[in-house]
Amino acid sequence: MADQQHLSLSRRDLMAAGAASAAVASAPSPAGAVPTDAPHLARVAFTVNGQKRSLELDTRTTLLDALREHLKLTGVKKGCDHGQCGACTVIVDGRRINSCLTLAVMHEGDAVTTIEGLGTPDRLHPLQAAFVKHDGYQCGYCTPGQICSAKAVLEEIKAGVPSHVTADLTDDPKLTEAELRERMSGNICRCGAYSNIVEAIAEVAGGLAKGERAKGNRA
Ligand code: FES
Ligand code: FES
Repeated sequence: MADQQHLSLSRRDLMAAGAASAAVASAPSPAGAVPTDAPHLARVAFTVNGQKRSLELDTRTTLLDALREHLKLTGVKKGCDHGQCGACTVIVDGRRINSCLTLAVMHEGDAVTTIEGLGTPDRLHPLQAAFVKHDGYQCGYCTPGQICSAKAVLEEIKAGVPSHVTADLTDDPKLTEAELRERMSGNICRCGAYSNIVEAIAEVAGGLAKGERAKGNRA
C-alpha cells in the first residue's frame, strides 16, 4: 500500500509531466541533425511492357504506385494494397508478384509486364479472349491480376514447378482443376467468377489433364 501511494500521481502531476515531455520533443535538435520530411529520391530504370522507362521516385514508392500513378498503367489494380487480394499482380522477370508488396527501386533493370503488355482491345491475348468467352469476370476489377497470374501459372506448370497440391513431386505437375485453383488462390474475385476463370485458363492450356473436367463453382 505504501508503494502504491509512492507511485500514485495526481492529475496535476501528470499534466505537468506531459507538458515537460512535449517541450523536450519540440526543442531544436542538435546542430547538424535537422529533422526533415523531405522524401529521399532515387532513380530506377527498368523495362515495362517492352519499353525502357526511367523514373525518379520517392524510395518508398511501391511498384504498384510507380506503374499506376507515374506510368499511368491503370490496368494494374489496387485492391487491398496489403498483399491479400492479388488485384495488383504483375509479371517481373517471368514470375508473378504482388506489386503492392515491393518497392519500385528494388526492380532496377527488371522486365515488368502488366496487362497492357499482354494484349490490346483489338488484339487480345488468348487468355483475355478466353476470359471473355467463358464469362471469367463480372465487375472485371480482379481480371488484370487474374490474367497476369494465369499466364505465369501456365508457365510454372510447364516448367514443372510443384504446388501445395502436387501429389507426386518426382513427376511433372498435371494440369488439373485442383492445381489451377491452388495456384490461382492468391487472386481473389469478389464476384465469384472462379469456375469460369478455371475453364478459361484450362482452355488456353489445351484442356485439363485426362480424367479431369472443370466442375461447378466451389470457391
Ligand atoms: S492490391 Fe496488392 S494484393 Fe491486393
Ligand atoms: S470479376 Fe469482380 S472481382 Fe472478379
